[in-house]
Amino acid sequence: MNDIEYIEDGHDLEAILNLLDENEVYKDDVKDHLHNFILAMHGDKLVGSISHMEIGKTIFLIRSLAVDRRYRRRGIATTLHDKKIALAKKRGFTRVYARTLRENKRVRRFYESENFHALSPQELYEEYPLCRDCLDYPNKMRPYCKDNSKHGECPVVTYRLEI
Ligand SMILES: CC(C)(COP(=O)(O)OP(=O)(O)OC[C@H]1O[C@@H](n2cnc3c(N)ncnc32)[C@H](O)[C@@H]1OP(=O)(O)O)[C@@H](O)C(=O)NCCC(=O)NCCS
Repeated sequence: MNDIEYIEDGHDLEAILNLLDENEVYKDDVKDHLHNFILAMHGDKLVGSISHMEIGKTIFLIRSLAVDRRYRRRGIATTLHDKKIALAKKRGFTRVYARTLRENKRVRRFYESENFHALSPQELYEEYPLCRDCLDYPNKMRPYCKDNSKHGECPVVTYRLEI
């Protein structure tokens, strides 16, 4: 779609929260990474978002990926994602991570189409220290993150992409 504009400043918190809400994307800590949002705009309407968090020097974690239902399958998420990959490379990261609920098949297909690899429980434990203290999911999920033997049951899938 060539009438979509991508903007990296002028972040409208209320519009972002609405978009995430409508698309059932976790939003409680958006303020912590509001400065990292890239937005897809159709005129004045916010139709897509992506953000990220950097944890230490090795973890570049994609956050808040959402595209309005009426604008899907037109490459908007791909464009947002490509912009984040370019930024991650520029900032010296060699791997990008993303997480989603195991049941969210749509976004899993998206990440798999972008060649992300779903980490096995052992890989997750060894390579993804954030998981041991699951900061961005509700507390009820924490037991899965803290006990290695339970990782296979974790409702969250963590993806990794070598860049
Ligand atoms: C996942 C999501 C961001 C994809 O956005 P999008 O702009 O439609 O994605 P794109 O058009 O760039 O799709 C790129 C590729 O991803 C795959 N894909 C995306 N949506 C898909 C679906 N519903 N079914 C199967 N494959 C899909 C396809 O391979 C697609 O390429 P194609 O259209 O040429 O076949 C969007 O569906 C969404 O916002 N979902 C709800 C929010 C959400 O769950 N966010 C994640 C929180 S962790």
